[in-house]
Amino acid sequence: MKFTFYGHASFAVEIADKTLLFDPFISPNPAASAIDIQQLAADYIFVSHGHGDHVADVVAIAQRTSAIVVGGVEVVNWLKTQGAPLIHEMNFGSHTFDFGRVSFVPAAHSSSMPDGSYGGNPGGFVIATSEGNFYYAGDTSLSSEMQLIPHYATLDFAVLPIGGNYTMDAQDALVAAQMIQCSKIIGVHYNTFPPISIDTEVAKSLFENAHKELLLPAIGECINL
Ligand code: NI
Ligand code: MN
Repeated sequence: MKFTFYGHASFAVEIADKTLLFDPFISPNPAASAIDIQQLAADYIFVSHGHGDHVADVVAIAQRTSAIVVGGVEVVNWLKTQGAPLIHEMNFGSHTFDFGRVSFVPAAHSSSMPDGSYGGNPGGFVIATSEGNFYYAGDTSLSSEMQLIPHYATLDFAVLPIGGNYTMDAQDALVAAQMIQCSKIIGVHYNTFPPISIDTEVAKSLFENAHKELLLPAIGECINL
């Protein structure tokens, strides 16, 4: 599995010959100005919820790549009205795609579309394939629901928000890592806006002291997992 970070909570995972792109918010993010969305590949685009900092570039990338946009019913149908050509709607539950099994799981957050339309329930994704398994929590607080994640898959890594304020901070994410039984965490959703700026060294040492790994790739950086 190859992970590439695109800033904020945007990333891609290359797995089972497919490129899975998550929550693309790249063109409005000044920190990600080196990333050209016209160059990004995607077979599937996963959308955790309706907020602008998760859906901004979905339609443009979906139109160019013909990627299938996967997410909650209300979110993906709204994206279809905005021009996304191919969608796969889900609600909380599991579905097997050509690359593996996807479980859309609850997140403790909110969801509305950028124009104020109803955005359904926010969620996260557990991706289970023959090459490996991972969990992307989306925007969420710490939630007892996370104890169910090991039931879906034994995780190789997890992508968790660590910026606080709107989501978990690093301290909460460490508890989440314990609940989901995963020791390799990639932190996202921090330092994009003032309310979510954090001291990354403090966050890393918090995880180190608990014998867990917190990876904070630079924007554009790839990690082989
Ligand atoms: Ni959000
Ligand atoms: Mn967000």
